[in-house]
Amino acid sequence: AERTFIMVKPDGVQRGLVGEVVSRFERKGLKLLGAKLMQVSNELAESHYAEHRERPFFNDLVSFITSSPVFAMVWEGENAISIARNMMGKTNPADAAPGTIRGDLGLTIGMNIVHGSDSPDSAAREIALWFNESLADYERAVDVWLK
Ligand code: GTP
Ligand code: MG
Repeated sequence: AERTFIMVKPDGVQRGLVGEVVSRFERKGLKLLGAKLMQVSNELAESHYAEHRERPFFNDLVSFITSSPVFAMVWEGENAISIARNMMGKTNPADAAPGTIRGDLGLTIGMNIVHGSDSPDSAAREIALWFNESLADYERAVDVWLK
């Protein structure tokens, strides 16, 4: 099954939305393989967002991500990457549909609550970048009902 890296950004942690975000992915049927609350270093933030290095908002993005702890996670399931992206909604909460995390809970593009990997390549890169430790390996009885 596919794996994706998901992170509740500092605004989501500060607003008490970690449980809400985790709950949505749990109820969807995705399987949690790893999770941790962590303070992000400048080095990690710049590496994570390396693709945006030349963008005008890059410094603000790095400052924001390092401003307060994030909740980093790995989730697994069939089509986990696109399913999680759909559940997050469009990057700008103003464009995100109701029912999505950003559509229901966010206001501005600068503080849009969650990050999710956007492709298999970025998922592999981000999981390796954020999780040095081994991920959980377990079966759930309910897995037979989520094929
Ligand atoms: P992530 O899951 O966080 O990577 O969001 P995304 O994949 O939906 O968007 P993208 O990778 O294009 O941008 C990364 C992040 O940069 C976004 O989530 C925003 O927080 C931020 N960002 C993108 N565009 C802008 C912008 O125009 N202004 C500001 N302030 N932030 C932006
Ligand atoms: Mg992105």
